[in-house]
Amino acid sequence: MSSLLITNARLVNEGKVSDADVLIRGERIEKIAKSINPADNARVLDAAGRWLLPGMIDDQVHFREPGLTHKGDIASESAAAVAGGVTSFMDMPNVSPQTTTREALSDKYAAAGGRARANYAFYLGGTNRNLEEIKALKVNEACGIKVFMGASTGDMLVDDPDALTKIFADAPVLIVTHCEHSPTIRDNEARAKAEFGADVPMSEHPKIRSATACLASSSIAVDLARRYNARLHVLHLTTGLEMGLFSRASRSEKNITAEVCVHHLWFDESRYEDLGTRIKCNPAIKTAKDREALVSAVNDGRIDIIATDHAPHTLAEKKRSYFKAPAGLPLVQHALQILFDLARDSQLSVETIVERTSHAVADIFGVVDRGYVREGYFADLVLIDSEKPYTVEASNLLYKCHWSPFEGHTFSSTIDTTVVNGTVVFHDGQLAGDVVGQRLQFSRGR
Ligand code: DOR
Repeated sequence: MSSLLITNARLVNEGKVSDADVLIRGERIEKIAKSINPADNARVLDAAGRWLLPGMIDDQVHFREPGLTHKGDIASESAAAVAGGVTSFMDMPNVSPQTTTREALSDKYAAAGGRARANYAFYLGGTNRNLEEIKALKVNEACGIKVFMGASTGDMLVDDPDALTKIFADAPVLIVTHCEHSPTIRDNEARAKAEFGADVPMSEHPKIRSATACLASSSIAVDLARRYNARLHVLHLTTGLEMGLFSRASRSEKNITAEVCVHHLWFDESRYEDLGTRIKCNPAIKTAKDREALVSAVNDGRIDIIATDHAPHTLAEKKRSYFKAPAGLPLVQHALQILFDLARDSQLSVETIVERTSHAVADIFGVVDRGYVREGYFADLVLIDSEKPYTVEASNLLYKCHWSPFEGHTFSSTIDTTVVNGTVVFHDGQLAGDVVGQRLQFSRGR
Protein backbone atom coordinates (compact mmCIF):
# COMPACT_ATOMS: atom_id res chain seq x y z
CA MET A 1 0.00 0.00 0.00
CA SER A 2 1.37 3.44 -0.91
CA SER A 3 2.11 5.94 1.82
CA LEU A 4 2.41 9.69 1.80
CA LEU A 5 3.80 11.77 4.64
CA ILE A 6 2.93 15.47 4.79
CA THR A 7 5.35 17.25 7.09
CA ASN A 8 5.52 20.73 8.67
CA ALA A 9 1.89 21.61 8.01
CA ARG A 10 -0.16 24.28 9.73
CA LEU A 11 -3.19 22.07 10.29
CA VAL A 12 -6.62 23.71 10.61
CA ASN A 13 -9.10 21.25 12.03
CA GLU A 14 -11.97 21.14 14.57
CA GLY A 15 -11.59 24.77 15.58
CA LYS A 16 -7.84 24.65 16.17
CA VAL A 17 -4.63 25.50 14.34
CA SER A 18 -1.63 23.29 15.14
CA ASP A 19 1.73 22.30 13.68
CA ALA A 20 1.44 18.72 12.46
CA ASP A 21 2.70 15.92 10.28
CA VAL A 22 0.08 13.69 8.66
CA LEU A 23 0.79 10.13 7.54
CA ILE A 24 -1.50 8.67 4.89
CA ARG A 25 -1.56 4.99 4.09
CA GLY A 26 -3.59 3.94 1.08
CA GLU A 27 -6.79 6.00 1.02
CA ARG A 28 -6.90 6.91 4.69
CA ILE A 29 -5.14 8.97 7.32
CA GLU A 30 -3.10 6.68 9.54
CA LYS A 31 -1.49 9.09 11.97
CA ILE A 32 -1.49 12.77 12.93
CA ALA A 33 1.32 13.90 15.22
CA LYS A 34 3.72 16.76 15.85
CA SER A 35 6.51 14.86 14.17
CA ILE A 36 6.43 11.56 12.27
CA ASN A 37 9.50 9.75 10.97
CA PRO A 38 9.13 8.76 7.32
CA ALA A 39 8.99 5.05 6.58
CA ASP A 40 11.50 3.95 3.94
CA ASN A 41 8.99 3.80 1.10
CA ALA A 42 6.90 6.90 1.98
CA ARG A 43 6.63 9.81 -0.39
CA VAL A 44 7.33 12.93 1.67
CA LEU A 45 5.63 16.22 0.91
CA ASP A 46 7.11 19.11 2.90
CA ALA A 47 4.26 21.55 3.53
CA ALA A 48 6.82 24.13 4.71
CA GLY A 49 4.31 25.83 6.99
CA ARG A 50 1.45 25.99 4.50
CA TRP A 51 -2.14 25.62 5.70
CA LEU A 52 -3.46 22.06 5.67
CA LEU A 53 -7.25 21.73 5.62
CA PRO A 54 -9.78 18.99 5.07
CA GLY A 55 -10.81 19.43 1.43
CA MET A 56 -13.94 21.43 0.73
CA ILE A 57 -17.15 19.40 0.37
CA ASP A 58 -19.20 21.51 -2.02
CA ASP A 59 -22.87 20.67 -1.54
CA GLN A 60 -24.07 22.66 -4.53
CA VAL A 61 -22.64 22.34 -8.03
CA HIS A 62 -24.04 22.11 -11.55
CA PHE A 63 -21.66 19.96 -13.56
CA ARG A 64 -24.22 19.78 -16.41
CA GLU A 65 -24.33 16.06 -17.10
CA PRO A 66 -26.30 14.68 -18.81
CA GLY A 67 -27.49 16.81 -21.67
CA LEU A 68 -25.88 20.20 -21.12
CA THR A 69 -22.31 19.15 -21.68
CA HIS A 70 -21.44 22.07 -23.96
CA LYS A 71 -21.33 24.07 -20.67
CA GLY A 72 -19.39 21.56 -18.57
CA ASP A 73 -19.20 17.88 -17.69
CA ILE A 74 -18.24 15.74 -14.73
CA ALA A 75 -14.67 15.24 -15.96
CA SER A 76 -13.93 18.90 -16.76
CA GLU A 77 -15.64 20.49 -13.76
CA SER A 78 -14.31 17.97 -11.24
CA ALA A 79 -10.81 18.76 -12.56
CA ALA A 80 -11.50 22.43 -11.82
CA ALA A 81 -12.85 21.40 -8.41
CA VAL A 82 -9.67 19.64 -7.30
CA ALA A 83 -7.58 22.53 -8.66
CA GLY A 84 -9.58 24.62 -6.19
CA GLY A 85 -9.16 22.28 -3.20
CA VAL A 86 -12.70 20.88 -3.47
CA THR A 87 -12.43 17.15 -2.78
CA SER A 88 -16.14 16.18 -2.84
CA PHE A 89 -19.15 17.58 -4.66
CA MET A 90 -22.92 17.18 -4.64
CA ASP A 91 -24.46 17.80 -8.03
CA MET A 92 -27.85 19.29 -8.89
CA PRO A 93 -30.70 17.71 -10.89
CA ASN A 94 -31.51 20.51 -13.40
CA VAL A 95 -29.92 18.68 -16.31
CA SER A 96 -31.41 17.03 -19.38
CA PRO A 97 -33.17 14.73 -18.79
CA GLN A 98 -33.81 16.06 -15.28
CA THR A 99 -32.73 13.84 -12.39
CA THR A 100 -36.22 13.20 -11.07
CA THR A 101 -36.29 9.40 -10.94
CA ARG A 102 -34.18 6.84 -9.11
CA GLU A 103 -33.21 5.41 -12.48
CA ALA A 104 -31.86 8.78 -13.65
CA LEU A 105 -29.88 8.99 -10.41
CA SER A 106 -28.38 5.60 -10.98
CA ASP A 107 -27.38 6.63 -14.53
CA LYS A 108 -25.60 9.68 -13.12
CA TYR A 109 -23.60 7.59 -10.64
CA ALA A 110 -22.63 5.28 -13.49
CA ALA A 111 -21.50 8.26 -15.58
CA ALA A 112 -19.33 9.63 -12.75
CA GLY A 113 -17.49 6.38 -12.02
CA GLY A 114 -13.90 6.58 -13.32
CA ARG A 115 -14.37 10.18 -14.53
CA ALA A 116 -14.86 12.27 -11.39
CA ARG A 117 -11.59 13.55 -9.94
CA ALA A 118 -13.36 14.40 -6.67
CA ASN A 119 -15.82 12.33 -4.63
CA TYR A 120 -19.41 12.70 -5.72
CA ALA A 121 -23.09 12.42 -4.91
CA PHE A 122 -26.26 13.50 -6.70
CA TYR A 123 -29.56 15.06 -5.70
CA LEU A 124 -32.97 13.80 -6.72
CA GLY A 125 -35.05 16.68 -8.05
CA GLY A 126 -38.52 17.13 -6.57
CA THR A 127 -41.34 17.97 -8.99
CA ASN A 128 -45.08 18.54 -8.79
CA ARG A 129 -45.54 14.90 -9.74
CA ASN A 130 -42.78 12.58 -8.48
CA LEU A 131 -43.78 11.94 -4.86
CA GLU A 132 -43.63 8.16 -5.30
CA GLU A 133 -39.99 8.38 -6.47
CA ILE A 134 -39.20 10.58 -3.49
CA LYS A 135 -40.82 8.23 -1.00
CA ALA A 136 -38.99 5.22 -2.45
CA LEU A 137 -35.57 6.86 -2.13
CA LYS A 138 -33.02 5.03 0.04
CA VAL A 139 -30.43 6.85 2.14
CA ASN A 140 -27.44 6.15 -0.08
CA GLU A 141 -29.19 6.81 -3.38
CA ALA A 142 -29.02 10.61 -3.14
CA CYS A 143 -27.41 13.28 -0.98
CA GLY A 144 -30.82 14.96 -0.70
CA ILE A 145 -33.94 16.12 -2.51
CA LYS A 146 -33.60 19.42 -4.34
CA VAL A 147 -36.75 21.50 -4.44
CA PHE A 148 -36.85 24.61 -6.62
CA MET A 149 -39.31 26.73 -4.65
CA GLY A 150 -38.44 29.48 -7.10
CA ALA A 151 -38.09 29.14 -10.86
CA SER A 152 -34.49 29.16 -12.10
CA THR A 153 -32.35 27.53 -14.78
CA GLY A 154 -33.91 24.22 -15.88
CA ASP A 155 -37.65 24.67 -15.46
CA MET A 156 -38.05 22.66 -12.24
CA LEU A 157 -40.36 24.88 -10.21
CA VAL A 158 -42.44 23.05 -7.62
CA ASP A 159 -45.42 25.39 -7.34
CA ASP A 160 -48.27 23.05 -6.45
CA PRO A 161 -48.86 23.70 -2.72
CA ASP A 162 -50.17 20.18 -2.23
CA ALA A 163 -47.08 18.59 -3.83
CA LEU A 164 -44.81 20.81 -1.75
CA THR A 165 -46.58 19.89 1.47
CA LYS A 166 -46.33 16.18 0.69
CA ILE A 167 -42.62 16.45 -0.10
CA PHE A 168 -41.98 18.05 3.29
CA ALA A 169 -44.21 15.50 5.03
CA ASP A 170 -42.76 12.40 3.36
CA ALA A 171 -39.18 13.03 2.20
CA PRO A 172 -37.02 10.21 3.58
CA VAL A 173 -33.83 12.31 3.37
CA LEU A 174 -32.69 15.92 3.72
CA ILE A 175 -34.57 18.50 1.61
CA VAL A 176 -32.55 21.35 0.10
CA THR A 177 -34.38 24.35 -1.33
CA HIS A 178 -33.86 27.18 -3.76
CA CYS A 179 -36.04 29.91 -2.26
CA GLU A 180 -37.35 32.79 -4.39
CA HIS A 181 -41.06 33.56 -4.65
CA SER A 182 -41.90 33.32 -8.36
CA PRO A 183 -45.18 35.33 -8.31
CA THR A 184 -43.33 38.28 -6.71
CA ILE A 185 -40.56 37.98 -9.30
CA ARG A 186 -43.06 37.91 -12.17
CA ASP A 187 -44.67 41.13 -10.85
CA ASN A 188 -41.25 42.76 -10.58
CA GLU A 189 -40.35 41.68 -14.12
CA ALA A 190 -43.56 43.21 -15.47
CA ARG A 191 -42.76 46.47 -13.67
CA ALA A 192 -39.20 46.52 -15.09
CA LYS A 193 -40.45 45.79 -18.62
CA ALA A 194 -42.98 48.62 -18.34
CA GLU A 195 -40.17 50.95 -17.27
CA PHE A 196 -37.33 49.85 -19.57
CA GLY A 197 -38.90 47.81 -22.40
CA ALA A 198 -36.96 44.69 -23.48
CA ASP A 199 -33.64 46.32 -22.61
CA VAL A 200 -33.72 45.99 -18.82
CA PRO A 201 -30.33 46.94 -17.31
CA MET A 202 -28.49 44.36 -15.25
CA SER A 203 -28.66 46.64 -12.21
CA GLU A 204 -32.40 45.80 -12.00
CA HIS A 205 -31.67 42.13 -11.29
CA PRO A 206 -31.61 42.42 -7.45
CA LYS A 207 -34.80 44.49 -7.61
CA ILE A 208 -36.53 41.89 -9.79
CA ARG A 209 -35.21 38.91 -7.85
CA SER A 210 -35.78 40.96 -4.74
CA ALA A 211 -35.07 40.48 -1.05
CA THR A 212 -38.84 40.36 -0.49
CA ALA A 213 -39.16 37.51 -2.99
CA CYS A 214 -36.40 35.61 -1.17
CA LEU A 215 -37.90 36.15 2.27
CA ALA A 216 -41.42 35.14 1.16
CA SER A 217 -40.16 31.83 -0.19
CA SER A 218 -37.65 30.93 2.53
CA SER A 219 -40.32 31.69 5.16
CA ILE A 220 -42.65 29.16 3.50
CA ALA A 221 -39.86 26.55 3.47
CA VAL A 222 -39.03 27.08 7.14
CA ASP A 223 -42.73 26.95 8.12
CA LEU A 224 -43.25 23.70 6.23
CA ALA A 225 -40.15 22.13 7.78
CA ARG A 226 -41.35 23.08 11.26
CA ARG A 227 -44.84 21.79 10.63
CA TYR A 228 -43.69 18.40 9.33
CA ASN A 229 -40.50 18.08 11.35
CA ALA A 230 -38.56 17.75 8.10
CA ARG A 231 -34.82 18.19 7.78
CA LEU A 232 -34.35 21.30 5.67
CA HIS A 233 -31.24 22.97 4.32
CA VAL A 234 -31.90 26.31 2.63
CA LEU A 235 -29.39 26.86 -0.18
CA HIS A 236 -27.62 30.06 -1.26
CA LEU A 237 -29.19 32.73 0.95
CA THR A 238 -28.54 36.30 -0.17
CA THR A 239 -30.26 38.75 2.16
CA GLY A 240 -29.93 40.17 5.64
CA LEU A 241 -33.74 39.99 5.86
CA GLU A 242 -33.74 36.19 5.81
CA MET A 243 -31.14 35.81 8.55
CA GLY A 244 -33.88 36.20 11.18
CA LEU A 245 -35.25 32.82 10.09
CA PHE A 246 -32.21 30.88 11.25
CA SER A 247 -30.88 29.87 14.62
CA ARG A 248 -27.47 30.24 16.24
CA ALA A 249 -27.98 26.92 18.07
CA SER A 250 -25.35 24.22 17.79
CA ARG A 251 -25.71 22.02 14.74
CA SER A 252 -26.79 18.91 16.61
CA GLU A 253 -29.84 20.84 17.87
CA LYS A 254 -30.92 22.10 14.44
CA ASN A 255 -33.35 20.54 11.99
CA ILE A 256 -33.17 23.58 9.72
CA THR A 257 -29.81 24.74 8.41
CA ALA A 258 -28.70 27.53 6.11
CA GLU A 259 -26.14 28.19 3.42
CA VAL A 260 -24.40 31.02 1.63
CA CYS A 261 -22.31 30.83 -1.54
CA VAL A 262 -18.92 32.36 -2.14
CA HIS A 263 -20.05 34.86 -4.79
CA HIS A 264 -22.64 36.31 -2.42
CA LEU A 265 -19.90 36.74 0.19
CA TRP A 266 -17.61 38.43 -2.34
CA PHE A 267 -19.62 40.55 -4.80
CA ASP A 268 -22.27 43.15 -4.17
CA GLU A 269 -24.56 44.98 -6.60
CA SER A 270 -21.92 47.61 -7.40
CA ARG A 271 -20.22 44.99 -9.59
CA TYR A 272 -23.09 44.76 -12.09
CA GLU A 273 -21.56 47.84 -13.66
CA ASP A 274 -18.31 46.17 -14.71
CA LEU A 275 -19.27 42.48 -14.77
CA GLY A 276 -22.86 42.74 -16.06
CA THR A 277 -24.57 39.47 -16.94
CA ARG A 278 -21.41 37.51 -16.08
CA ILE A 279 -22.53 37.73 -12.45
CA LYS A 280 -26.22 37.27 -13.20
CA CYS A 281 -27.30 34.45 -10.90
CA ASN A 282 -30.36 33.30 -9.00
CA PRO A 283 -30.84 34.35 -6.28
CA ALA A 284 -29.29 37.67 -7.27
CA ILE A 285 -26.22 39.27 -5.75
CA LYS A 286 -27.68 42.03 -3.60
CA THR A 287 -26.55 45.10 -1.65
CA ALA A 288 -23.31 45.73 0.23
CA LYS A 289 -25.35 45.64 3.46
CA ASP A 290 -26.72 42.21 2.54
CA ARG A 291 -23.19 40.95 1.89
CA GLU A 292 -22.10 42.20 5.31
CA ALA A 293 -25.11 40.57 6.98
CA LEU A 294 -24.20 37.25 5.33
CA VAL A 295 -20.61 37.48 6.58
CA SER A 296 -21.91 38.16 10.12
CA ALA A 297 -24.29 35.20 9.92
CA VAL A 298 -21.42 32.92 8.85
CA ASN A 299 -19.48 34.11 11.87
CA ASP A 300 -22.28 33.75 14.42
CA GLY A 301 -23.50 30.34 13.23
CA ARG A 302 -26.84 31.21 11.64
CA ILE A 303 -25.24 30.19 8.34
CA ASP A 304 -23.93 26.64 8.62
CA ILE A 305 -22.44 25.90 5.20
CA ILE A 306 -20.49 27.81 2.56
CA ALA A 307 -20.83 26.35 -0.97
CA THR A 308 -20.29 27.54 -4.53
CA ASP A 309 -23.41 26.94 -6.68
CA HIS A 310 -20.85 26.50 -9.48
CA ALA A 311 -23.07 27.01 -12.56
CA PRO A 312 -21.15 27.29 -15.82
CA HIS A 313 -22.66 28.68 -19.01
CA THR A 314 -20.78 29.54 -22.19
CA LEU A 315 -19.59 33.11 -22.60
CA ALA A 316 -21.73 33.43 -25.74
CA GLU A 317 -24.79 32.55 -23.65
CA LYS A 318 -23.79 34.95 -20.88
CA LYS A 319 -23.24 37.83 -23.31
CA ARG A 320 -26.92 37.98 -24.22
CA SER A 321 -29.21 40.74 -22.99
CA TYR A 322 -30.63 40.73 -19.44
CA PHE A 323 -33.66 38.46 -19.94
CA LYS A 324 -31.87 36.12 -22.37
CA ALA A 325 -28.60 35.59 -20.48
CA PRO A 326 -28.79 32.47 -18.29
CA ALA A 327 -28.22 32.81 -14.54
CA GLY A 328 -25.16 31.20 -13.00
CA LEU A 329 -21.38 31.55 -13.00
CA PRO A 330 -18.39 29.23 -12.69
CA LEU A 331 -16.84 29.34 -9.20
CA VAL A 332 -15.58 25.97 -8.02
CA GLN A 333 -11.92 26.56 -8.92
CA HIS A 334 -11.54 29.66 -6.73
CA ALA A 335 -13.87 29.17 -3.77
CA LEU A 336 -11.18 28.62 -1.17
CA GLN A 337 -9.05 31.45 -2.53
CA ILE A 338 -12.06 33.78 -2.23
CA LEU A 339 -12.52 32.69 1.38
CA PHE A 340 -8.82 33.02 2.19
CA ASP A 341 -8.94 36.61 0.92
CA LEU A 342 -11.85 37.24 3.26
CA ALA A 343 -9.72 35.74 6.05
CA ARG A 344 -6.80 37.98 5.11
CA ASP A 345 -9.18 40.93 5.47
CA SER A 346 -10.29 39.64 8.92
CA GLN A 347 -13.86 39.01 7.76
CA LEU A 348 -13.62 35.27 8.50
CA SER A 349 -11.14 33.09 10.36
CA VAL A 350 -9.47 30.07 8.78
CA GLU A 351 -11.09 27.91 11.47
CA THR A 352 -14.52 29.18 10.39
CA ILE A 353 -13.71 28.52 6.73
CA VAL A 354 -12.89 24.89 7.53
CA GLU A 355 -15.95 24.53 9.75
CA ARG A 356 -18.36 25.86 7.10
CA THR A 357 -16.82 24.28 3.98
CA SER A 358 -16.06 20.85 5.37
CA HIS A 359 -17.01 19.83 8.95
CA ALA A 360 -20.55 21.24 8.76
CA VAL A 361 -21.25 19.70 5.36
CA ALA A 362 -20.13 16.27 6.56
CA ASP A 363 -22.26 16.55 9.71
CA ILE A 364 -25.42 17.92 8.09
CA PHE A 365 -25.47 15.45 5.21
CA GLY A 366 -24.06 12.57 7.26
CA VAL A 367 -21.10 12.01 4.93
CA VAL A 368 -19.25 8.92 6.14
CA ASP A 369 -15.59 9.30 7.21
CA ARG A 370 -14.88 12.61 5.49
CA GLY A 371 -14.89 16.30 6.33
CA TYR A 372 -12.36 16.14 9.18
CA VAL A 373 -8.65 15.45 9.42
CA ARG A 374 -8.90 12.41 11.68
CA GLU A 375 -7.02 9.14 11.97
CA GLY A 376 -9.03 6.48 10.11
CA TYR A 377 -10.82 9.01 7.90
CA PHE A 378 -10.31 9.29 4.14
CA ALA A 379 -7.34 11.48 3.25
CA ASP A 380 -9.16 14.33 1.44
CA LEU A 381 -6.89 17.29 2.02
CA VAL A 382 -5.78 20.61 0.61
CA LEU A 383 -2.58 22.57 1.15
CA ILE A 384 -2.91 26.33 0.70
CA ASP A 385 -0.04 28.78 0.38
CA SER A 386 -1.25 32.10 1.76
CA GLU A 387 2.10 33.76 0.95
CA LYS A 388 1.88 33.12 -2.78
CA PRO A 389 -0.45 35.35 -4.84
CA TYR A 390 -2.30 33.85 -7.78
CA THR A 391 -3.67 35.66 -10.82
CA VAL A 392 -6.67 34.13 -12.58
CA GLU A 393 -6.07 33.95 -16.32
CA ALA A 394 -7.86 32.20 -19.16
CA SER A 395 -4.80 29.92 -19.44
CA ASN A 396 -5.15 28.56 -15.88
CA LEU A 397 -8.90 27.90 -15.96
CA LEU A 398 -9.97 24.26 -16.16
CA TYR A 399 -13.67 24.94 -16.74
CA LYS A 400 -15.06 23.72 -20.04
CA CYS A 401 -16.70 27.15 -20.50
CA HIS A 402 -13.24 28.75 -20.22
CA TRP A 403 -14.14 31.99 -18.49
CA SER A 404 -14.35 33.25 -14.94
CA PRO A 405 -15.67 36.42 -13.33
CA PHE A 406 -12.23 36.62 -11.66
CA GLU A 407 -10.09 36.81 -14.82
CA GLY A 408 -7.38 39.39 -14.19
CA HIS A 409 -7.95 39.29 -10.43
CA THR A 410 -5.07 38.37 -8.13
CA PHE A 411 -5.96 36.31 -5.07
CA SER A 412 -3.55 36.48 -2.15
CA SER A 413 -3.28 32.70 -1.83
CA THR A 414 -2.60 29.71 -4.08
CA ILE A 415 -3.92 26.15 -3.94
CA ASP A 416 -0.67 24.23 -3.63
CA THR A 417 -1.75 20.58 -3.42
CA THR A 418 -5.00 18.62 -3.30
CA VAL A 419 -5.23 15.04 -2.06
CA VAL A 420 -8.31 12.88 -2.74
CA ASN A 421 -8.57 9.42 -1.15
CA GLY A 422 -4.84 9.48 -0.36
CA THR A 423 -3.75 10.34 -3.92
CA VAL A 424 -2.16 13.67 -4.87
CA VAL A 425 -4.53 14.84 -7.62
CA PHE A 426 -3.33 18.43 -8.02
CA HIS A 427 0.10 19.86 -7.30
CA ASP A 428 2.02 22.95 -8.28
CA GLY A 429 -0.58 24.18 -10.76
CA GLN A 430 -1.04 20.83 -12.51
CA LEU A 431 -3.50 17.97 -12.36
CA ALA A 432 -1.69 14.87 -11.12
CA GLY A 433 -2.25 11.22 -10.34
CA ASP A 434 -5.12 8.99 -11.30
CA VAL A 435 -8.81 9.78 -11.37
CA VAL A 436 -9.80 8.51 -7.91
CA GLY A 437 -13.15 10.14 -7.01
CA GLN A 438 -15.49 7.78 -5.15
CA ARG A 439 -19.20 7.76 -4.55
CA LEU A 440 -19.93 9.43 -1.20
CA GLN A 441 -21.62 7.33 1.46
CA PHE A 442 -24.21 8.74 3.88
CA SER A 443 -25.05 7.62 7.37
CA ARG A 444 -28.33 9.42 7.95
CA GLY A 445 -31.76 9.90 6.46
CA ARG A 446 -34.50 12.20 7.61
O1 DOR B 1 -27.83 31.12 -10.90
C1 DOR B 1 -28.23 29.98 -10.91
N1 DOR B 1 -27.79 29.11 -11.83
N2 DOR B 1 -29.12 29.59 -10.01
C2 DOR B 1 -29.73 28.39 -10.08
O2 DOR B 1 -30.59 28.12 -9.28
C3 DOR B 1 -29.42 27.45 -11.16
C4 DOR B 1 -28.09 27.71 -11.72
C5 DOR B 1 -27.86 27.01 -13.04
O3 DOR B 1 -28.15 25.81 -13.10
O4 DOR B 1 -27.40 27.63 -13.99
